[in-house]
Amino acid sequence: MKFFVSTPLYYTNAPLHLGHAYTTIAADVVARYKRMQGCDVFFLTGTDEHGSKVEKAATAAGMEPKEFVDELIPDIKELWKVLEISYDHFVRTTDDYHERQVQAVLQKLYDNGDIYKGTYHGWYCLPCESFWTDLQLVEGKCPDCGRAVAKQSEESYFFKMSKYQGQLLKLFEENKDFVLPHSKREEVLNFFKEGLKDLSISRASLKWGIPLPFDSKHVTYVWFDALFNYWTALAHDGDKKRQATFWPADVHLMGKEILRFHAVYWPAMLFAAGLPAPKSVYAHGWWTVEGKKMGKSWGNIVDPFEMVENYGADSFRYFLLRETPFGADGDFSEAALIQRINNDLAGEYGNLLNRTLVMFERYSNAFIPPCGPSGEIENVLSRAAEKCVTVYSSKMDCYEFHHALESVWEFIKEANKYVNDSEPWNLAKNNDPRLATVLAYLAESLRLATVLLAPFIPAKADEAWAQLGYAGLATQQKSADAKWGCFKPGTKTKRGNVLFQRVILEPIAPN
Ligand code: MSP
Repeated sequence: MKFFVSTPLYYTNAPLHLGHAYTTIAADVVARYKRMQGCDVFFLTGTDEHGSKVEKAATAAGMEPKEFVDELIPDIKELWKVLEISYDHFVRTTDDYHERQVQAVLQKLYDNGDIYKGTYHGWYCLPCESFWTDLQLVEGKCPDCGRAVAKQSEESYFFKMSKYQGQLLKLFEENKDFVLPHSKREEVLNFFKEGLKDLSISRASLKWGIPLPFDSKHVTYVWFDALFNYWTALAHDGDKKRQATFWPADVHLMGKEILRFHAVYWPAMLFAAGLPAPKSVYAHGWWTVEGKKMGKSWGNIVDPFEMVENYGADSFRYFLLRETPFGADGDFSEAALIQRINNDLAGEYGNLLNRTLVMFERYSNAFIPPCGPSGEIENVLSRAAEKCVTVYSSKMDCYEFHHALESVWEFIKEANKYVNDSEPWNLAKNNDPRLATVLAYLAESLRLATVLLAPFIPAKADEAWAQLGYAGLATQQKSADAKWGCFKPGTKTKRGNVLFQRVILEPIAPN
């Protein structure tokens, strides 16, 4: 089975922060989960490099726009590397294959009469690169970011988006899972209340963009250019077969503020190009910091490099997806991150691993023994495991990562309780054959929990497997292994460093 997941393309006029890392980490979790199920995954990310914002930033830096964006790419790729992002392709909107394919689509739409010349009157929000009508403004300001807008009147080419209103409404009607989470569907439908307007898709006053193939005085509006990346990148190496087999995308992930572009403009453009709409678009919530929007002007930007440096990539990844529901807003605090590390990762999961490995060493020469006789206490644990697998997959399938993780932790708690209730130290004292049962059940619990956690904490999962003696398992995390009972006795365990260190905060000195 094929599965295509994407992040939005990131703007290249400022460093990336926690918010950007969030979308990408979530997409990585989806990609890893789907690979675990045996899917042939294409995971796409990249950068949005054209438009007035980039042109302005380059001018301010005394550089040519291309030179300016080229300098930013290594840093972005480095961030994805430290965050363990397993993307299959990194698309840049300045890439040749992208520009050529966008121009071909523009030409096709023009030839079909879906693009026409007119005059654009309206309001433009520079930071959002969005055009607005009088009606859409909120108290005269940009409805998305609340900043000032500028009046604009100029010759422009328009995309006949209004023509696709019926087809779009049919799409929303027929595919109830097109807009995710479902709670966002109404918001998208509201957009149709005024009737869909045609979209201005070119600017003559701007140089930094893809020139229209039929009028080179104009460059393409950034969103028209950028949205098409999801399709052009599939053929980045000229492989049209990949493009044909992976399209339509299974899911585009993005923040809620750009849902309209993905749920309305994008399918309309695809319909005009004779292509099907993606199967779903998922709009996640926003992270604030101490209740405030994150921004340079607030001086409260959370730097993901710093978070990785201080707490490790896996803890950061886990926190972002565990702390708040993916579709809801969340408030970031280091105190909450530390609490999750200490309680969940070091306390419950890490501790279960460590105490179990110590028992293997102490009671069975660091070998996982074949299972001995089992009883009701084991049935309770295996039922908890089976429930966990069922809940986990159903929640992962609808992007409820926090619930998927919660179900794994319920199981981990059950396994820790099993240690306490079965009292292996007493079984050892009495030479009870049930000791082998307890050790085998614990090995299986840790194997299973680690398989399920691997999409979230890939490096730590590898470490845990190595300590459990399953070094090869990381590459075979197929769905077959993501169920209770795949345990193989006879493995030699190798206790190593503690998986997650507790974070001890220095007390703040009184003034
Ligand atoms: N370039 C456009 C997308 C074009 S896609 C064809 C864009 N870029 S962006 O860099 O501004 O944002 C990229 C992603 O980062 C979006 O999904 C956005 O929601 C996410 N975030 C940026 N700040 C955020 C938070 N504070 N919290 C959560 N995510 C937010 O939009």
